[in-house]
Amino acid sequence: MPEFLNIGIFASGRGSNFRAILGSIKAGKTKNARITLVISNNSGAGALQTARENSIPALHISRMQFTSDDDYTKALFNALENHEVNFIVLAGYMKKIDPRIVRKFKNRILNIHPALLPKYGGDGMFGRHVHEAVIASHDPVSGATVHIVDEEYDHGSIVLQKKVPVGPADTAESLAEKVLAIEHQLYPEAIRLFAEGKVTFKNGKTEISR
Ligand code: GRF
Repeated sequence: MPEFLNIGIFASGRGSNFRAILGSIKAGKTKNARITLVISNNSGAGALQTARENSIPALHISRMQFTSDDDYTKALFNALENHEVNFIVLAGYMKKIDPRIVRKFKNRILNIHPALLPKYGGDGMFGRHVHEAVIASHDPVSGATVHIVDEEYDHGSIVLQKKVPVGPADTAESLAEKVLAIEHQLYPEAIRLFAEGKVTFKNGKTEISR
């Protein structure tokens, strides 16, 4: 049996991906996993609210509460340890993860990006900027990517991708909506694969057995 996933969610905003993941666990579609902690840098995040409504420990931890990067990172490590987190899921988290956390959780931090990486990724490519770039390049296809988090933005190995067609009438808003709907399927699916021990790593790439 693969190791049980104690998931720590990091989210800055509305938290619709977090809700999709939670829904999949509650419905019994993602077994061998639970969410033990939600962390946000934003005290008003919808994700914290959702966590509290579901009796999941919810912490507001922001760099602004600390006088040094070290103290901030220590607080994050303490929170993860106190809640026995062994797997981290970034769900709309707008802050860079400290390299010490990336190293400690090597191949155990996921992110979702609202485009088909490696296209439309990297520093500054977040939120509507991504969809605006896709529309501006008249790309006929976009989608979502779940990938491993390493020390560079949107760079780690790809776990799953799913495409959506981009039509001539699409705007950044309509595309964002279509991609988000895909994200809500793709993220729980990726976590399920990890929870079932179906993701392995070879030569820096993920391999999935289904
Ligand atoms: C999603 O579009 C995701 O791809 C990106 O941030 C957004 C988060 O949305 N990383 P939500 O907070 O999960 O609703």
